[in-house]
Amino acid sequence: MSERLRLFVALDLPAGVRAQLAGWCQLAAAPGVRRIVAENLHVTLAFLGSRSAQDAAAIATGLEGLARDICPLETAGALWLPPRGPGVLCVALADAPALTALHADVVAALGQAIGYEPDERPFRPHVTVGRIPRGTLRVPRKIDPPAPQLHFEASALTLYRSSPAPGGARYEPLATRRLLGADTS
Ligand code: 2AM
Repeated sequence: MSERLRLFVALDLPAGVRAQLAGWCQLAAAPGVRRIVAENLHVTLAFLGSRSAQDAAAIATGLEGLARDICPLETAGALWLPPRGPGVLCVALADAPALTALHADVVAALGQAIGYEPDERPFRPHVTVGRIPRGTLRVPRKIDPPAPQLHFEASALTLYRSSPAPGGARYEPLATRRLLGADTS
């Protein structure tokens, strides 16, 4: 049987933003929440699940030509998702029309490339910083201290392969498409 790859497309975050969010999570996450290491923090645009290597190649090609400036972005507070029966601690991103449009274009490109059908839930941009081991924890409603307010530039979107690893998943970039400084003329 040909190899299957667990794939997702994400917006990459500057290293400084990842470090600040991971540092905040150390303070805010209730005991028992599994903190995600700074290098793994990202904004998921599309989760593709288990796919073939051919699909991965088609996705990489499909993501070409999506370059545009979507800056600046900003964080918009912490939240547990899903709100009822949370599984992850997140930091939301403020609504930004350019980010919403990029998400729609990524979804359309994935539809063309591999027949991807998007999640029916509305896109809610966020960075997941911690995970709750299934069924193990009741989380406090109030998240304290508040998440840092950050303004930043997102420079690229990346197709990642996720592989299980001790202490959390390992994310391997398969294809990166530059956003920031892209020539959109
Ligand atoms: P999220 O944590 O940003 O919400 C890599 O695993 C990324 O894909 C995660 O950051 C997660 O998004 C998303 N993901 C993982 N499993 C998923 C699933 N079953 N459905 C939707 N998104 C998923």
